[in-house]
Amino acid sequence: LKILFSSRIEAPERWLPLLQSLLPEDEFVLEGGNDIDVAIVASPHPGVLKRLGNAKLIQSLWMGVERLLEDPDLPRNVPLARLVDPGMTAAMTETVLAHTLDWHRRLYRYREQQKTRTWKRFRQYMASDHTVGILGMGALGTAASRPLLDLGFKVVGWSRRAKTVEGVACYTDLHEVLLRSDVVVCLLPLTAQTQGVLNLENLKKIREGGGVINCARGPHVVRDDLIAVLDSGHLAHAWLDVFDKEPLPEDDPLWTHPKVSVTPHAAALTEPRTAVVEIAKNIEAVRRGERPPHLVDFQAGY
Ligand SMILES: NC(=O)c1ccc[n+]([C@@H]2O[C@H](COP(=O)([O-])OP(=O)(O)OC[C@H]3O[C@@H](n4cnc5c(N)ncnc54)[C@H](OP(=O)(O)O)[C@@H]3O)[C@@H](O)[C@H]2O)c1
Repeated sequence: LKILFSSRIEAPERWLPLLQSLLPEDEFVLEGGNDIDVAIVASPHPGVLKRLGNAKLIQSLWMGVERLLEDPDLPRNVPLARLVDPGMTAAMTETVLAHTLDWHRRLYRYREQQKTRTWKRFRQYMASDHTVGILGMGALGTAASRPLLDLGFKVVGWSRRAKTVEGVACYTDLHEVLLRSDVVVCLLPLTAQTQGVLNLENLKKIREGGGVINCARGPHVVRDDLIAVLDSGHLAHAWLDVFDKEPLPEDDPLWTHPKVSVTPHAAALTEPRTAVVEIAKNIEAVRRGERPPHLVDFQAGY
């Protein structure tokens, strides 16, 4: 197969040697015409997508594909696969666990107290006293739910279609999830339906003293509504990894808000060592004439 690698962000030298070792009989190119069989892309170079009408597969290097779907040059007749990378999934699980425990153990408050040399203990809770609401029970949300359940947290989840995940109370009605949640973790894809989902009305439904963890995409959260809910004292803290504009502009009030922890879209990075194995499996499926898993549903937008 002729396999094109095109990215303005991911360096080919990080990926190609690993891919070539798993797919030794295939030809890898960095530029190509209409004869490409498989294209591996992440922010591809301009003009690349337009020439992929004859390809058998476009493989994204990222889990979120909203930017590719927005591109009018993306051929809609070619299957588009998201990358579901075990290394990235593990990283996201760790991040969700870290922020949830930061909230549950009130560590963010002790860090604040240290600034004023304040020695004051807060009430202790057991994990089973708290419910974590996961918005988006997909690959990442489902993986993150497991260690939370193992620690004893109650977990409720929101998905578009009805779902069964062991130990998790799953709902398709967001209202039901938010009303039960002490801390809400957003792991949704960004679509027309999910944009702005964490707005004033919905944020107020989260239990008092709760927290918000957004590791999905910035526009899921309405920034000024979140600030209002934090300032009102209804929610205690927000952990934000993603923003409407990235890098987060220097003058953005989120940088200095005392109830906000900012990370630079680092919740989970693609891990080439594990990702290439999944990409190679997808390419082998194409070689056998099969459809690889995790294909994007163009209608649903993710
Ligand atoms: N910050 C970071 O570093 C980072 C890293 C990786 C990924 N991400 C983000 O995480 C997102 C999720 O990734 P994933 O691999 O877990 O995606 P996924 O497997 O496609 O799961 C998405 C989940 O969201 C649900 N959903 C979608 N639209 C919905 C709606 N309108 N109402 C209710 N639920 C809805 C889906 O419901 P169904 O189960 O019914 O389909 C599914 O459960 C990615 O799209 C990406 O933006 C962020």
